[in-house]
Amino acid sequence: MDGMKEWYYQSFKEISDFGKNVPNIQPLVDYFVESAIQPKLTEWKGHKVYGFGFNADTIKWVYDNWTPWQNDVIVASFPKTGTTWVRHIVRLLYFRHDEKLMKMTGGMAMPHIYLETGIPLKFELLDKLPWDRKVLSTHVPAALFNFEKIRSAGAKVIYTIRNPKDQLVSWHKMMANVPMNREGTDLKHQYPLEWEKYFDVAISGKQQMTNIEGEYYMEHLLSWYPHRNDENVLFVVFEDLKKDPLKEIRRIAKFLDVKISEDDLLKVAESSSFVSMKKEYHWTDKMKFFRKGEVGDWKNHFTVAQSEKVDALVEEKLAETDIKFTYEL
Ligand code: A3P
Repeated sequence: MDGMKEWYYQSFKEISDFGKNVPNIQPLVDYFVESAIQPKLTEWKGHKVYGFGFNADTIKWVYDNWTPWQNDVIVASFPKTGTTWVRHIVRLLYFRHDEKLMKMTGGMAMPHIYLETGIPLKFELLDKLPWDRKVLSTHVPAALFNFEKIRSAGAKVIYTIRNPKDQLVSWHKMMANVPMNREGTDLKHQYPLEWEKYFDVAISGKQQMTNIEGEYYMEHLLSWYPHRNDENVLFVVFEDLKKDPLKEIRRIAKFLDVKISEDDLLKVAESSSFVSMKKEYHWTDKMKFFRKGEVGDWKNHFTVAQSEKVDALVEEKLAETDIKFTYEL
């Protein structure tokens, strides 16, 4: 318990030390510690949110009251589809020549930069940090995202996609290693340790991760899909990034209006390789956050029946879209 309190305190303090006139971070730390000990279920527009500092009241507050800055970037995603990878690339493209900002943003993770975590005070803190464009994230489905406000502020959004089989394995492996208060809370049921159970709970939409009950990754994709051609939205596919990082990083740079030399592009690709990132984010090792970073690892875990179940879901739910997943490279 004390270790966790200390961790939240330090992680917010390290960031707030970069800013001037920052608000008192203690209420934020208290909120996250309380949420870790005794998660509460909150709900907005039928979307349920439970645990890990996620808060439906904050999602609503952000929707109604928060305005980004021009050139802010929000990396939106379903969990485990390459969010951190793409955020890291954006961070390099924006801040690579500024050592201080690289340091500050290097420690920013789930509690700090997800639109749906914490309390509104967090946004006061983010605004007091010495950056002129923020790199943030969200896992919310499109119904909870205020596109019009984000667009008119001049902010940009990158939505990441990954094949749902690798997503599921990655999600299970991480959740088995994230420190959480399983006993005495519903997290035990939503994130079971056994793979067979995890698979069923996850694909039947019983995890309360801002979704409507019964909805899973396919519905998240379907909600974002109509925005794929919005002028301030870019879709990035995990497997494309894996296959040809230079091409995809160039595409992201162009979308963000970042001018970059070929030499610099190579450096960004090198600093965002799996090996470099695993080294840089070594503080996430215990959670197996940078686990394998591969395409096709699902074959080491899925039964034939599980694979067919996901294929059937994709077929049923995404039939009207042109999304074609890549399951191996
Ligand atoms: P695995 O668990 O399959 O290894 P998210 O950031 O959305 O939570 O996604 C995490 C997944 O992206 C993990 O997948 C992680 O290893 C992978 N990942 C992160 N950075 C990567 C990189 N530079 N190259 C390849 N995969 C990466």
